[in-house]
Amino acid sequence: MAKLDIWCGDNLDFLHKIKSKSTDLIYIDPPFNTGKQQERTQIKTVACQDGDRVGFSGKRYKTIRMGTLGYADIFTDYIEYLEPRLVQAHRILSDEGSLFFHIDCRESHYCKVLLDMIFGRESFMNEIIWCYDYGARSRKKWPSKHDNIFWYAKNPKKYIYNYENMDRIPYMAPGLVGKEKAALGKTPTDVWWQTIVSPNGKEKTGYATQKPIRILERIIKVHSNPDSKLGDFFAGSGSFGAAALACERDCFLIDKNPAALEVMKKRFAGENIQWHRKYKKKVKLTQKIATAEIANETSIVNVTEIATDGIDTGLSIKKVRKTIKKTQVKKVSDKIV
Ligand SMILES: C[S@@+](CC[C@H](N)C(=O)[O-])C[C@H]1O[C@@H](n2cnc3c(N)ncnc32)[C@H](O)[C@@H]1O
Repeated sequence: MAKLDIWCGDNLDFLHKIKSKSTDLIYIDPPFNTGKQQERTQIKTVACQDGDRVGFSGKRYKTIRMGTLGYADIFTDYIEYLEPRLVQAHRILSDEGSLFFHIDCRESHYCKVLLDMIFGRESFMNEIIWCYDYGARSRKKWPSKHDNIFWYAKNPKKYIYNYENMDRIPYMAPGLVGKEKAALGKTPTDVWWQTIVSPNGKEKTGYATQKPIRILERIIKVHSNPDSKLGDFFAGSGSFGAAALACERDCFLIDKNPAALEVMKKRFAGENIQWHRKYKKKVKLTQKIATAEIANETSIVNVTEIATDGIDTGLSIKKVRKTIKKTQVKKVSDKIV
């Protein structure tokens, strides 16, 4: 049974800990820097005589707001924020591994330049255009109805690409290709038509910017093997993890937003999940140790606090001692442990 490892915290803190060349496929869908708070409010309607909505045969319904799930998507230093994370992505990718980077036209050009610098221009394999044709249509310019997904192979001469596992799509004019070919369908190009997650469908989690599992399954089937390790460190509602489970692959997911973790908890109930919630506390502990290091000689009280916190968090004394030693507060640590 495939397994998901789920971490809560800033992905940069966690990525450093992943073994180099350990991951065959990374898909990430970072915030797009839309300059907005990304939000989805979930509502429920119940029949009610003086309700605010009218349904079939004039029946009235009351709207109940169930809550809002979202995250801030505003950066003044977007490329600087992405860079160290992409450097880590490159490091942890296996020799035959691939990165899929999901973005839209607002930042795609800058991201492409950054990715070219980290991976090398020759490692750029495709720009996949995901078209969805859904929602409001602007009257002032051509409505934007696509996202961009960049594919980079760590080694452009040798990478996992299971052509035979590609799903097939219907021919536009099946009458022109003969019965057999029409029944088989054709292979997709770099333009993927796929509707967004249906607002009333089963797949919907209510998390803002949730991506459809079908495009992720296509990526996983072609770009990984059954024993591959997969990862998404901007996981959101965990769509990539859901696709990995559907394709029976192990995968790690990271998100720093507790609301995302709550959504994943529901979404993956009953699945083989390893939760690493305490990681957040460990990060806090490390930060405190760094503070102690700066304070240096005057940090005895601080370090005692750090050690207590560490042990409460579930770290062994040995580990606490090691962490303190690592930050070179040696003298003090000898006194307390
Ligand atoms: C566009 S959403 C991902 C949506 C996801 N693909 C899905 O289908 O639900 C981006 C996510 O990145 C998370 N995020 C942003 N910065 C992060 C960071 N430094 N570390 C971990 N997660 C981060 C946000 O909390 C948000 O959930």
